[in-house]
Amino acid sequence: MTQLSKDFLWGGALAANQFEGGFDQGGKGLSVIDVMTAGTHQIPRRITQTVDPHTYYPNHEGIDFYHKYKEDIALFGDLHLKCLRTSIAWSRIFPKGDETEPNEEGLQFYDAVIDELLKHNIEPVITLSHFEMPLHLANAYGGFRSRYVIDCFVKFAEVVFKRYKDKVTYWMTFNEINNQMDIQHPIYLWTNAGVRIEEDENAEQVLYQVAHHQLVASARAVKIGKGINRNFKIGNMISHVPIYPYSCHPKDIMEAEIQNRSRFFFPDVQVRGFYPNYIKKMLAHKHIHIDWSEKDDEILAQGTVDFIGFSYYMSTTVQHKDAHFSKKDTVFGDLPTSVENPYIEKSDWGWAIDPIGLRYTLNTLFNRYQLPLFVVENGLGAVDTIDDTGHIHDQYRINYLRQHIEAIKIAVNEDGVEVMGYTPWGIIDIVSFTTGEMRKRYGLIYVDRDNEGNGTLKRSPKQSYYWYRNVIDSNGETLN
Ligand code: BG6
Repeated sequence: MTQLSKDFLWGGALAANQFEGGFDQGGKGLSVIDVMTAGTHQIPRRITQTVDPHTYYPNHEGIDFYHKYKEDIALFGDLHLKCLRTSIAWSRIFPKGDETEPNEEGLQFYDAVIDELLKHNIEPVITLSHFEMPLHLANAYGGFRSRYVIDCFVKFAEVVFKRYKDKVTYWMTFNEINNQMDIQHPIYLWTNAGVRIEEDENAEQVLYQVAHHQLVASARAVKIGKGINRNFKIGNMISHVPIYPYSCHPKDIMEAEIQNRSRFFFPDVQVRGFYPNYIKKMLAHKHIHIDWSEKDDEILAQGTVDFIGFSYYMSTTVQHKDAHFSKKDTVFGDLPTSVENPYIEKSDWGWAIDPIGLRYTLNTLFNRYQLPLFVVENGLGAVDTIDDTGHIHDQYRINYLRQHIEAIKIAVNEDGVEVMGYTPWGIIDIVSFTTGEMRKRYGLIYVDRDNEGNGTLKRSPKQSYYWYRNVIDSNGETLN
């Protein structure tokens, strides 16, 4: 059997806002995540107008990587990671977002982090925007409602591209750019784009305008990046939740086909450089008008991506609307026409667990785009317990990761898909994005901190840490 390429990027994934902490240190400004309260699986996180001194905001301290980065990177080095996917917090570099000059102290922090990674032979993979837009841009300009915010983003991208042009090769523009269209969860639009929908607004009109601005921003950043270092590999980053038809009823097949357009709209534009016909038709039918500058076509065409980065956690299943609707106990990430998939289990947080869906996704994306794919997020959020001897036996996490790595291997070896690497999400325990909890742990390294912010912050490798090191050392051959 052929093996994964010897350059396969085994790594781990994180985002500055969820682990860095130091939210007001080194000249950093507030970001959109800094006004999000803690929640739970049952209680949604709230977005406050500004920081309320009597409220707990879990991202403010994260796991304090800001002060512990040397210790953490040493642990990543001992894990033999080949890469670390993380982000550069936009509001650490441009605290308000509309300054003319960047915050040198913020850049110096990332100089130190990136140098430390390179010292440990860990390739940095950088997301430019992972829920870290300066709060000022959201409040003063309405985030990506405003075309001006495109310029702010591009300026930020240019500064970090130039600063790290000889140290970073792999970049991605916007994390899970497509998730903001999920109007059922307003935190996505807030964190991705700094936008809140008012009650009297036509939500779809706002969503498509904001999406267009971000697509233009992404394309401009790609073009500028390539001009700074033509060897940069710049990708997009989408959340891919494949949509299965509930049955072989042609109406179910068509329902899945139509719903899948929400998955493909962003990558279709970012890979091909123009809007697909199905979106143009839909916009016309719904009388949605996008404010389109005369240069936008050229910008989109010139800023296409080199690879597709994507997160894969789950699949969902839809049934056509005329059916006797069998909607029962559905799962996170569902669509209005989603129904329970009887063949799939769920995590404690109701996320479908479907490793075959990863092979399916890899095939779907590769066959549609013929670009290298990078699995930059995948993992199991679970409650971990420490035994009397201080060990964490997270066999359930090992099983999850093993099954998904097996799916990647089949996609590469049997289906011929090009996969650049795999960076499981939350390589070290961090604050959960959707719930703001610490209890929902993804890490291979345990961090002593609870949902209320108590704990010593001590780091302890879990059983999965040692397992993953063997996986990396054997280039994916040893999975047991
Ligand atoms: C992805 C995000 O949607 O899912 C991450 O890019 C997030 O930021 C991850 O943390 C897992 O979600 P959660 O809510 O379990 O942390």
